[in-house]
Amino acid sequence: MDGLKIVTIGGGSSYTPELVEGFIKRHKELPVRELWLVDIEAGKHKLEVVGDLAKRMVKKAGVPMEIHTTLDRREALKGADFVTTQLRVGLLDARIKDERIPLSHGVIGQETNGAGGMFKAFRTIPVILDIDKDMAELCPDAWLINFTNPAGIVTEALLRHGRNKKVIGLCNVPIGMEMAVAKMCNVEHERVRMDFAGLNHMVYGLNIYVDGKRVNEEIIQTISEGKVDGIVKNIKDFEWTPEFIKALGVMPCPYHKYYYQSKNMLEDELKEFAKGETRAEVVKRLEEDLFKLYDDPNLDIKPPQLEKRGGAYYSDAACRLINSIYNDKKDIQAVNTINNGAIADLPAESAVEISCIITKDGPKPINIGKLPVQINGLIQQIKSFERTVVEAAISGDYNLALLALTINPLVADEKMAKILLDELLEAHKEYLPQFNK
Ligand code: G6P
Repeated sequence: MDGLKIVTIGGGSSYTPELVEGFIKRHKELPVRELWLVDIEAGKHKLEVVGDLAKRMVKKAGVPMEIHTTLDRREALKGADFVTTQLRVGLLDARIKDERIPLSHGVIGQETNGAGGMFKAFRTIPVILDIDKDMAELCPDAWLINFTNPAGIVTEALLRHGRNKKVIGLCNVPIGMEMAVAKMCNVEHERVRMDFAGLNHMVYGLNIYVDGKRVNEEIIQTISEGKVDGIVKNIKDFEWTPEFIKALGVMPCPYHKYYYQSKNMLEDELKEFAKGETRAEVVKRLEEDLFKLYDDPNLDIKPPQLEKRGGAYYSDAACRLINSIYNDKKDIQAVNTINNGAIADLPAESAVEISCIITKDGPKPINIGKLPVQINGLIQQIKSFERTVVEAAISGDYNLALLALTINPLVADEKMAKILLDELLEAHKEYLPQFNK
């Protein structure tokens, strides 16, 4: 049969209309014949609402793309060409706990970093490995494209413990950084190219080019003057100290503020915590509003309100990636993939976020050699954390979990790590069978 079968697990997500829009826009080049949206019983209502909106969007656009909704993951996976994963085990209430529990002890509470990120990984990794197992049986040639956070740690788990080697982790931060550079230089996005290297939510723009000319100095100067609009909506725009950013010499990502401006970030989060407005709580309200909009039978486009979410434009990243694999475009995109020696200082078999040439055989990382000394240390420390988290997530080993949290720079204290670990294990126990054996 002509055309592609795409399966989206976590299809009832409020982000799905983005993805549908992305496939509609590219339909001539990327003929998606069937899009299967899969969810679980608890997400049934959302799945129906999003599925109906997707059908109206496709009808309005007049493209021959079938939308299927199902709670039967195995049925959906049969014969898929691409599987995308965007699930949230425990829904937003689990994210609220990931953010609020560390903050209640005066420690940064964030969805993908520190204690919150570790627990999101603990809940997610077993589920993703289960999907990987189903894929090996039902669609062994399909690509798995994972957006589920923490995307870097999840990719590390899949690469080391999964069966399917056709795995890519994807994030909207690199594309957001490119778009920010385009805006700073007042040029179209297509004219910007960056050499990205590092880890997910810990990626740096090492070299920045506009029309092939290296513009690092100009960009660093602009950043040092504070002229950068929010790259992602979920992270505050505290300015960088000019002397620091010039000495760093490469473009940091928004998540670096948790590490280089921990005090500011914590103070700000504590204010939100006191008001009941941590990011997860804000997002929960935003989602309720979004779903009211999606439920309107007259709505047949992606509503602009979706851009208030931090993951805005992730579909551009996702559809661009699928398109380049399908059409063997050999263009350059930053994804999470196996390092294979591209970054000399990191393990060959680990996941890295790096600029790659995207071919029909997947991403081919562009060799960057050694990391600049000023960023190598932090990246190494986070990779140690990520690897320890993966082993703890799979084994359910308490001691390893304690070790992981203690070596994370946002906790960095074994006594505090133990307090957080015990409280979070209790709070999330229904989603952590591996720790309750
Ligand atoms: C950023 C990150 C994504 C994350 C999103 C959260 O864009 O790159 O990985 O999912 O923010 O946004 P939210 O609106 O849920 O806070």
